[in-house]
This record gives sequence, C-alpha cells and structure tokens, in this order.
Amino acid sequence: MTFNVSNIRKDFPLIDSHCLKLIYLDNAATTQKPLVVIDALTEYYKNKNANIHRGAYELSIHSTDLYENSRKVIRKFIGAHKDCEIIFTKNTTESINIVAYSFCETFLKMGGNIITTELEHHSNYLPWLAACSRKSGELRLLPIADDGFFSMTLLERLIDNKTALVAVTGASNAIGLLPPLKDIIKIAHAHNVPVLVDGAQLIAHSFVDVSAIDCDFFTFSAHKIYGPTGIGVLYGKEAYLEKMHPYNYGGDMVDRIGETFGTTTWQNLPTKFEAGTQDVGAAVGLSTALRYINVQGTTCLHAYEQTLTQYTLKRLDSIKGITVIAKHSPRVPLISFISSIFSPYDISMLLAAHGIASRCGELCAQPLMKKLGLKNGLIRISIAFYNTKEEIDRFCDVLEQIQTSYL
Ligand code: ALA
Repeated sequence: MTFNVSNIRKDFPLIDSHCLKLIYLDNAATTQKPLVVIDALTEYYKNKNANIHRGAYELSIHSTDLYENSRKVIRKFIGAHKDCEIIFTKNTTESINIVAYSFCETFLKMGGNIITTELEHHSNYLPWLAACSRKSGELRLLPIADDGFFSMTLLERLIDNKTALVAVTGASNAIGLLPPLKDIIKIAHAHNVPVLVDGAQLIAHSFVDVSAIDCDFFTFSAHKIYGPTGIGVLYGKEAYLEKMHPYNYGGDMVDRIGETFGTTTWQNLPTKFEAGTQDVGAAVGLSTALRYINVQGTTCLHAYEQTLTQYTLKRLDSIKGITVIAKHSPRVPLISFISSIFSPYDISMLLAAHGIASRCGELCAQPLMKKLGLKNGLIRISIAFYNTKEEIDRFCDVLEQIQTSYL
C-alpha cells in the first residue's frame, strides 16, 4: 500500500477533526486511535460482550475466541513462538512489576543484583529497586556516556555471578535513544543472565522480533501503539514463566485449591498470570490496532516517521539557543531539547498557547535528568505517522518565534 498521510489522517477522528486545532506531538505519552479501533470496541460491547473461559453458551464461547485470537495476533506481531508466552496485563508498568515480583521471587537470591541503565523510565527502575530491597540486594546502573551511548565493557564489568537479570529500555521515553539491544543481550546471555526489554516506546516505531533479538521478556502498552488504554502485554520465554509464581491470585488462574497454599495448583500459562476477569474488549481493540498497522505496512510507516524526524532535527539545528539532547544517536521519532532562554515548562506552555501539544519536565526519568544535569528537565516532542511536514514546520516556526522574541 502506498503511504499517503492525508488518507491516514482521515482514519483518526481526533486528528482529522476540524474543531480540534491541535498539532499533536505528544505521541510518546499516548497515541490517537483509528476509527477501526474505536468501532471494534463499540462493536464488542454492543454485540459480543460476555465473560470468557467459563460459559457454555455461544456468546461466551465467541468472546473467548475473540480474546484468544487477539493473543495470536500479538504473538505474531512481536515474533514470539507460542501463544502461552503472551500475557495480558494492564500496561507496561504492570508487566515489569510482574517480572520484578515473580521472577525475582525465584531467581534473585539474597544479596544478588539486577542491572538496569541510567536511561530508564521510572517503570523500569522502581520495580527493580523494590525487588532488590526485598532481597537485600543491589540495583546496578549501566551509565550512559555524554551523547547517550553505552559502553559494553562497563556492562561486562557490572555483571557477576549474583546478577539475576538485565532490564533495559528498547527506546528511551525521555530522549528517544535506541540502546544497542542485540549487544546487551549477547553479553548478558554469555553470562547466562536473562534480559527484559521495556518496549513501551519501541513497539510503535520499529519492527520487533523477540525471537530474533532473543530477549527473555518484552513489555508494552496498547495505548502507545494506537490501541486502547488499560491493556498491556508481557511476553516471557515459557521456560522462565513456568518457573515463576503467580502475581495475582483469584478466579480463573487456579487449577485445584488444596488444603494449604503449598498444595494448591495453578492453571497452565498464560492463565496462571491472568487472575480475574480480563479486559476482553481492550484485547480486541489492541489486536485491531495491530491489524490496522500491518495493513498500512510497518516498514513504510517507520520510514516516514524517520524522514520526518530527520527533517525536524535539521530545522531545530538552525534555531538559535535550542540544544537537542543526544542529537546524533539512533532514535525513535522523539526529540528532546532545552532552550537557552526559557524553562521547559515555559516553552511547553507557549507551544500549547499556539495549539501545539508537547511534553516537558523530568519525563519520569529522574536518574537520567540527574546524569544530564537537567534540573528542570526538558521539552519533548514525539511524532507519529499521522503527523505532517507542515505540522513540523509550524512547530519549528513557533519555537523560533518564541526564541527570537527574547534574543
Ligand atoms: N510514559 C509516558 C511518557 O513518557 C507517559 O510520556
């Protein structure tokens, strides 16, 4: 299919709306939803809603099929081998918390360590900090160099025989940078250490194949890839998930309740990790979003986003007093910068006054802000394939106007 941004925009009611005069450059926070996803949600609740896995009647059987077929769509989209390795969660944060709790319960020994990086969102930092605290262990941080690059030699030095896991972002939510996942995974695996990739900011902008990169866990949220809020995914290799204890206890996930907790048995994967009634409608919404993306063609969507990103970087380069963070790093379509005159908050407010949605502050990445010496944080714009060159021009023109009015 040939990529045509004008046609794409018509698929997104909130983007296409003539009433909402907003240039939406906050896609890393959440993406807008195509009509097919909104319609799938409505259709589910209008005509297909029933609880899953428990009804002998047709509506329930059909609802179960929709839920399980959504799991298959997700499995294929990320290149996992088995449906049972796809667990539905609330979001990326919950997916990481499940691993930090259940994996660490079994695999993090007292006094052991977990390695994460200075680049991480708090969601890929705090759950590990809590796990290490429970086991009187240590959370080790792989530092980044000035322009955002990692040293693999330092990673080698951080790993020892007490390391239980390496957790790394697939793409930084704060500065867009793409860490060298393959190298990190290769080094960790050489030491028999599994790797979790936080895919929240990667999934919408890069081809993901969990089998090819051979990560052991991969997490993402539906709402960052044009799906609904309230649902996320945890991919885990079966061998690890089998050995992990459930995270939530309740309906559906139990096999037989024994006389004691120790004699109680759990359902097979993935149900063991899906206690209680799941968000079936949202699962259907997510698979609809992934099908929509597949129809458009991920390769051309990603290429378009990258072209727009390079164009934005070039334009920002010529605006006096604007410094882009990690300018030369490989990145998702997300650019963060600071102004020599205004605070990030002021710039974001002024952009908003001109109808441009950006984000500012610490971006849930305090360790990174500390490392970069950015007390007030930064300003972030994040692009999706429905954004246009005209929108980028308008954003850059407004930013230039703001800057030059005080220079
Ligand atoms: N984690 C989201 C962001 O970085 C909300 O904006």
